[in-house]
Order: sequence, then C-alpha cells, then structure tokens
Amino acid sequence: MRILLTSALAMTLAAMAWHAQAADPERGRSLAGQCRTCHGLNGIAKIPIAPHLAGENRIYIETQLKAFRSGKRQHEMMSVIAKDLSDEEISHLAAWYESIEITATMPE
Ligand code: HEC
Repeated sequence: MRILLTSALAMTLAAMAWHAQAADPERGRSLAGQCRTCHGLNGIAKIPIAPHLAGENRIYIETQLKAFRSGKRQHEMMSVIAKDLSDEEISHLAAWYESIEITATMPE
C-alpha cells in the first residue's frame, strides 16, 4: 500500500513538473505572433470582436483553446486557428498571456 501511494505521488509530482516545464511564456510569446492581428501581442485586442487575453488565467485560456480545437466551442476564426495547436503550444500560449500584468481603473 505504501509503495503504491509513494509511486502515485511520484507520478503526480513528475506530471506537475512536466507541466510546469511545458508552460514557457517565452515560447508562448513567439507563438503569439500568429494571434497578434486580432488579440495583440500584449493581449489587448486589436479588433472589436476579439476578447483581450492579457492577464487572463491560463486554465481558462487552455480550456477555451481546447474547446475550439475539439469543436465543443465554435467560431469561424478561432476554430481554424486552434485546429493545429498542440497541447504544448496551448500551454505556452496560455502562460504567455497569463504572464502579462494588467491593471484596471474604475470610472470615477
Ligand atoms: C483572425 C482573428 C483572430 C486570430 C488570428 C486569433 N484569434 Fe482568438 N479569438 C478571435 C475572436 C473573434 C474570438 C472571439 C470568439 C467568439 O466570439 O466566440 C477569439 C477568442 C479567443 C479565445 C477565447 C477567449 C475568451 O474570452 O473566451 C482565446 C483563448 C483565443 N481567442 C486565443 C487565441 C490564440 C492563442 C491565438 C493565436 C494562436 C488566436 N486566438 C488567434 C479572433 C482571433
């Protein structure tokens, strides 16, 4: 039993380490070149129908990109873009946009 638990823990830690290593904001930054026309390299959208991605939580970004890729979420532009993204590329992109610091100013 103890051996089983230890190996399960080791596998979980290895998976977490792999994930942390896989999500590289710098690699995401270069991948985001293909997103900049609409979302901006800094994650501030350039076209009115695209959402800002700057500072967005990586879990949300990953979930949405995977939903576009699988067809669960559909959009004429994003479905095409997400189709060829690998899990690794999605992690990098999500890490990039999450790493951008944003501030919000409420109206007076
Ligand atoms: C041609 C313009 C265009 C390009 C290029 C583009 N997007 Fe989008 N993206 C959109 C639009 C428009 C939406 C809003 C979709 C909708 O209304 O459902 C969107 C939505 C998203 C969302 C969902 C955000 C949310 O708030 O739900 C994510 C995440 C996203 N895009 C990531 C990316 C990434 C990463 C890239 C580059 C690999 C990229 N997009 C390239 C236009 C674009």
